[in-house]
Amino acid sequence: MESRNVLPREGALVTFWDEALGVNVRDSDGNVLLDLTGAFGVALAGHRHPRIVEALERGGGRLIHGMGDVQPSRERLELLEHLSSLSPWRSCRGVLSSSGSEAVETALKTAFLATGRPGILAFQGAYHGLTMGALATTHREHFRGPFRPQLSPHVAFAPFPVEEGEVGEKDVWPKVDQLLDEGTPDGIPVGAVVVEPIQGRAGVRVPPPGFLSKLAERTRRAGALLILDEIFTGLGRTGRIFALEEAEVIPDLLCLGKGLGGGLPLSACLGPEEVMDAWPPSQGEAVHTSTFLGHPLACRTGKALLEVLEEEELPDRARDTGRLMAQVLAEEIGNLGPRVRVRGRGLFLGVTFHDSNGVEPLDHAGVQAAEILLSRGIITLPAGARGEVLELTPPLVLDPELARYAALQVTEVAGLLVSREG
Ligand SMILES: Cc1ncc(COP(=O)(O)O)c(C=O)c1O
Repeated sequence: MESRNVLPREGALVTFWDEALGVNVRDSDGNVLLDLTGAFGVALAGHRHPRIVEALERGGGRLIHGMGDVQPSRERLELLEHLSSLSPWRSCRGVLSSSGSEAVETALKTAFLATGRPGILAFQGAYHGLTMGALATTHREHFRGPFRPQLSPHVAFAPFPVEEGEVGEKDVWPKVDQLLDEGTPDGIPVGAVVVEPIQGRAGVRVPPPGFLSKLAERTRRAGALLILDEIFTGLGRTGRIFALEEAEVIPDLLCLGKGLGGGLPLSACLGPEEVMDAWPPSQGEAVHTSTFLGHPLACRTGKALLEVLEEEELPDRARDTGRLMAQVLAEEIGNLGPRVRVRGRGLFLGVTFHDSNGVEPLDHAGVQAAEILLSRGIITLPAGARGEVLELTPPLVLDPELARYAALQVTEVAGLLVSREG
């Protein structure tokens, strides 16, 4: 029925999702599971938040689908107005789409139109999506390898620095400066630098303080544009509405997705008017649009999500609960020695596993931890190129007591794995 590539791995423990509410998922056997993933980070306000359900029911009773760029809807205007009020620019303009990858595609196209330079600088470990343009900026070989001959040759990668020193900044700047000054190895001038404020799928890799602002400064000096991919970090997850606040950086373009639609597919590429006006005025047929652009129902649930984020102070809750969870994890994991560590911001946490010297990543340890946790009723995901990280991105409404319980469970499983490895 379905392509084998998008089915669970043979032999994997599979739970059929039947229903979800708040931080819980009920499977088709009636088991209630604790969701520490937010379903890929989407369920920011928890599954089936009543305000989002209400928006869905009201909107569904009036207008489900619209006519993209051709005929606007009130929902689309209201969502963009709200996003604009949260954005770091005085006059913000946006292009809506359905998936994160599409928002990245829009940003890459915008940067090319604005600079006329086709070269792109991305970072090792980056994940920006899997559609062809976005895939060219995604670093992991697993995704790129099968399509290498089809990928744009104009993307070059620089090392991404990591806070606790796995890759130091001294390895980063010479490469970044070289690419910005001289272009890609083929001599193609760089017009866009695309970066995640914290690398998500690479294993919640947090760069050192000041990295993003230095990158922004160098990018601007070179006449290129900085695209900040906040598809995972955005909308409260790291303890701020946007991670750019803590990094004190104002990008030229900002990509949002995942939780933006409150659970419905919705993404956005935002930028200041002077950058976004690189797009020509419409002649009646947009040069970049899609069937579902500005989907009224997704815009409505998206607006409800933004309201809930603010009214229920979800970024602050993510910061506090995340701090508690990281603290419990660090304390308990501390007893396991240097082989297990925790990193991240807010409710964007990664537990990293290492070999007995505490140096090399322990291949598949995150995968194994996620499997054991699932058998205990806790849903998590592995991350990292070698599956060496356990990623924790729960709904931001996670109760602190439950967060403590979850952290203790994670620690117990980490202990099991470490003792099993010897
Ligand atoms: C940082 C980042 N950018 C882009 C994407 C791609 O989003 P989508 O899977 O909705 O295309 C993801 C998805 O995980 C992501 O984490």
